[in-house]
Amino acid sequence: MSGPLNVPVELGARSYPIWIGPGLLDDAPRWRAALRGRHVLIVSNDVVAPLYLQRVVAGLEGLSVSTLILPDGEAHKTLDSAARVFAALAELKASRDATIVALGGGVIGDLSGFAAACWMRGIAFVQMPTTLLAMVDSSVGGKTAVDLPQGKNLVGAFHQPRAVVVDTATLATLPERELRAGLAEVVKYGALGDAAFFAWLERHADALLARDAQILAEAIAACCRQKAGIVARDETEQGERALLNFGHTFGHALETATGYGVLLHGEAIAIGMVQAARLSTQLQLAGAADADRLQALLARCGLPTSIPRRIGPRRLLDLMRLDKKNVSGRLRLILWRGIGRAEIVPDVDEAAIVRVLQEGLGAGAEG
Ligand SMILES: NC(=O)c1ccc[n+]([C@@H]2O[C@H](COP(=O)([O-])OP(=O)(O)OC[C@H]3O[C@@H](n4cnc5c(N)ncnc54)[C@H](O)[C@@H]3O)[C@@H](O)[C@H]2O)c1
Repeated sequence: MSGPLNVPVELGARSYPIWIGPGLLDDAPRWRAALRGRHVLIVSNDVVAPLYLQRVVAGLEGLSVSTLILPDGEAHKTLDSAARVFAALAELKASRDATIVALGGGVIGDLSGFAAACWMRGIAFVQMPTTLLAMVDSSVGGKTAVDLPQGKNLVGAFHQPRAVVVDTATLATLPERELRAGLAEVVKYGALGDAAFFAWLERHADALLARDAQILAEAIAACCRQKAGIVARDETEQGERALLNFGHTFGHALETATGYGVLLHGEAIAIGMVQAARLSTQLQLAGAADADRLQALLARCGLPTSIPRRIGPRRLLDLMRLDKKNVSGRLRLILWRGIGRAEIVPDVDEAAIVRVLQEGLGAGAEG
């Protein structure tokens, strides 16, 4: 590849680049322009830091740099961890022109962005995503949050990064299951808004699974372009941005029903997208062939597509009623009219949902 790709996120004075390419962590001259002031706090975790932290630190010579290494895992995306970021910023004597660099997956990105939104009412931050999910989704668009015991992402803010630095070479160390879970989000972009990209993914699924660097970079860029466009048109999710939640109402319900950590987020979304597509067929919005294609592509990516057998439809429906997208007690879902054509459907018939959930159960299910 000749130099990294740059996908711009156009938000007026808050516009920023998404750099995509191998070796970008070592290319400090490119991303240092996004930093403000002299103080930089790098936040990472104890899995990613041993692999990549030194390369980022090396690029920050001449600045006042500190690092905070948190324990790995969603269990640490908490207010307590945010407090640790604040303590590290205080220790660094960080002023309003300080920058937080988030080096890691979506957990580190969401937490660091949230801390950056709060410190002195908002300081700069730079995303350096190292999971496929974070590269194509969580690092772009400015949604930041921490979890509470009562639920995921309940406390957060919209706070855009000043740059997203996607070093695709970091995917080499990503566990296979995490790569596949990230591919679910990649497929989501084709499914919700880009039929040509979906067909491209069908042609290149094997190369993606084999971690072909060029193909991965192209896929990431396509996803980022689509997300950047949606975010530019609807930054705070008044409308179109909700389409990015295709499969998520089903998926979140599945994550809760199975207990967090049993299904990875991407795995739950894969199952959820298939249910959304099947429900669209049931409601005669789309043909069955498109749902078949979606299920086949996800299965090729090594992702689950049916509901674990022990989870009954009624339980899932109850959990879906708690979704943030619902309005006035009516189930509002992202469904589709076929590949590349997702849309928001208000007030979906619950009997149809139960039928689809029943049919979507793995073999040997109980109602
Ligand atoms: N802000 C948003 O718009 C948005 C969108 C989607 C998801 N999210 C959030 O993202 C989080 C999930 O993100 P995730 O899937 O990246 O999980 P994660 O951050 O927990 O990373 C997954 C695992 O991979 C490890 N890892 C990361 N990079 C690695 C690398 N290059 N090599 C080896 N191991 C590596 C991590 O340490 C972790 O164990 C959730 O908290 C979710 O709520 C946010």
